[in-house]
Amino acid sequence: MVREPSQRDRRQPAGMAAPATTARANVNLALVKYWGKRDQALNLPATGSISLTLDALPRGVGLASSAAAFAALALAASRAAGFALDPPALSALARRGSGSAARSIFGGFVEWRRGERADGRDSVAEALAPPGFWDVRVVVAVTSSAPKAVSSRAGMERAATSPFYPAWVAGAEADLAQARAAIRARDLEALGLLAEHSALKMHAVGMAARPPLLYWRGATVDCLDRVWKLRAEGTPAFATIDAGPQVKVLCTPDDARRVAEALRAVPGVERVLTCAPGGGAEVMA
Ligand code: DP6
Repeated sequence: MVREPSQRDRRQPAGMAAPATTARANVNLALVKYWGKRDQALNLPATGSISLTLDALPRGVGLASSAAAFAALALAASRAAGFALDPPALSALARRGSGSAARSIFGGFVEWRRGERADGRDSVAEALAPPGFWDVRVVVAVTSSAPKAVSSRAGMERAATSPFYPAWVAGAEADLAQARAAIRARDLEALGLLAEHSALKMHAVGMAARPPLLYWRGATVDCLDRVWKLRAEGTPAFATIDAGPQVKVLCTPDDARRVAEALRAVPGVERVLTCAPGGGAEVMA
């Protein structure tokens, strides 16, 4: 739970300008998705979510980076205003910019709790396991660098019109419990299957919305199909898709090259990059 910032969090006396502050944060990949809000203004989620923070991506690959941007902004702005906020308070601040940014405050595996309070003070992220806890890879197949036509915010509003939305919300606690257990046990198959299931449920909600919402392209489906073939051939690889057409594949470090080569060969894939677990938001010297 977050407490309100007070004078004791101030590093600078009130009224005195703090030195310019630069901060950085990484993007994160949701394994159990956040897709729906219980409060639009405060950005409070309808369900909890679990993610993996990723190490630095090259810019300009068409991947949403608002999570990293708002996490870095929360840290830099609070320091510039003279406050040294603790991680839960930073997470709550970042959440106001973009929900998923609440998770990018932390590195490694992270859970953002739904919370129950109307003021959102219990809806903050926390670290489940640090980046070094489990060395996995995420291979990203970029199928389009074009900006997405429907923002996550608008997509979530539309999701609420779907007859599948109540089932999506009702299934979240079970998904979160399974994901936590799989992470604790470093069980790639359990976590991967669960992540794939969460992503496909999220997109099924959109397809049944009014008007319908489908972020995929042909190459998205072909990448999914390739991942399923890899699995049938004995390579443990598991796909997830966010509010866009890129396919992100969870696998072991040993299999990352094989997975990347397989995805690169899918027609319509513009580029492929591989990420490892990354750290949380930090102030730069
Ligand atoms: C599909 O955090 O971008 O990536 O809170 O409206 O800014 P807003 O949405 P945002 O949504 C992320 C949606 C997602 C799933 C996830 O990251 O959990």
